[in-house]
Amino acid sequence: MAVSRVSMSKEGPLVSRLAQGWASAVRRGLTVAEATRHVHACLEVGITTMDNAAIYGGGQGETLLGEALAAEPGLRDRVEIVTKCSVGSWGTSLYHYDTSREHILSSVEHSLQELRTERIDLLLIHRPDPLMDADEVAEAFDRLYAAGKVLHFGVSNFTPWQFTLLASRMPRPLVTNEVQISVLDNHTMLDGTLDQCQQLRIRPMAWSPLGGGRLFTGDTPQAERLRTELGAIGEALGGYSVDQVALAWLLQHPAGILPILGTFNAQRLAAAAVAEGLALTREQWFRIWVAGTGERLP
Ligand SMILES: NC(=O)c1ccc[n+]([C@@H]2O[C@H](COP(=O)([O-])OP(=O)(O)OC[C@H]3O[C@@H](n4cnc5c(N)ncnc54)[C@H](OP(=O)(O)O)[C@@H]3O)[C@@H](O)[C@H]2O)c1
Repeated sequence: MAVSRVSMSKEGPLVSRLAQGWASAVRRGLTVAEATRHVHACLEVGITTMDNAAIYGGGQGETLLGEALAAEPGLRDRVEIVTKCSVGSWGTSLYHYDTSREHILSSVEHSLQELRTERIDLLLIHRPDPLMDADEVAEAFDRLYAAGKVLHFGVSNFTPWQFTLLASRMPRPLVTNEVQISVLDNHTMLDGTLDQCQQLRIRPMAWSPLGGGRLFTGDTPQAERLRTELGAIGEALGGYSVDQVALAWLLQHPAGILPILGTFNAQRLAAAAVAEGLALTREQWFRIWVAGTGERLP
């Protein structure tokens, strides 16, 4: 079953309901040929959105994806590239953030080169920067848009207040906030982040949607409770796995969450794609909530 295509916001871009994350591709030692094969495995199940960042793989994550896409004519045009800037400061003595106009512009030039493309579909500010000057960021974004180098803009790990500040200076709406969301971590459901996304009708992207693997390997009481509950619900629904039910839980949220998968295992991708067709009852959804928090609802 192929995952559906949806608009991230009223203004776009069109993306797949599940995305592929590239953070660990270099660490795993993927060759270019393996990365190209994995792009095809994604496309086979309808995953067209590739989440990357200037900092991934110590700067090599974009290079690998760029080479993987360049290996076949036309492959670049079958995917949407999301990348991020402002985190990671090579050549300086201390790792820090940089949301200055100059850094954003030069980071994008570098990303375009590494990704071997003329356009980035979606550019995110990777993390909130206490020194962020929203006017400067908006100006840099505007220049990149006018030059056709970046088509859409968003943020990552922003609080609703930080989002509102930057949005207030932007000539065009921000289209997403990429944040950590999973059955193990529901803070964005409580702190206004997902409420803001719904209010603005933008879809949040969810990083570590399976807790970065902790859901399967974690030995905390929370991880154990969740495995038991997700397993039981999966059985009751007709034999679905822990990951499928955990993803269905995210997909069912009214904010229209777009989970970013971290696996490079084609079978796990195909299993994840099935989650979109899985409907949990409200009771099942809250059983998972309670297993995650360890507390009954008030
Ligand atoms: N914006 C940000 O600040 C930020 C921060 C972190 C991450 N991200 C993005 O989010 C992406 C995904 O993050 P993530 O890697 O933490 O995602 P994840 O999907 O929560 O975790 C991936 C891990 O789960 C394991 N896994 C998946 N399905 C499994 C299954 N059925 N059984 C057992 N293990 C399973 C994978 O193992 P296998 O690989 O062996 O399948 C892998 O180790 C990153 O690549 C990056 O693009 C963004």
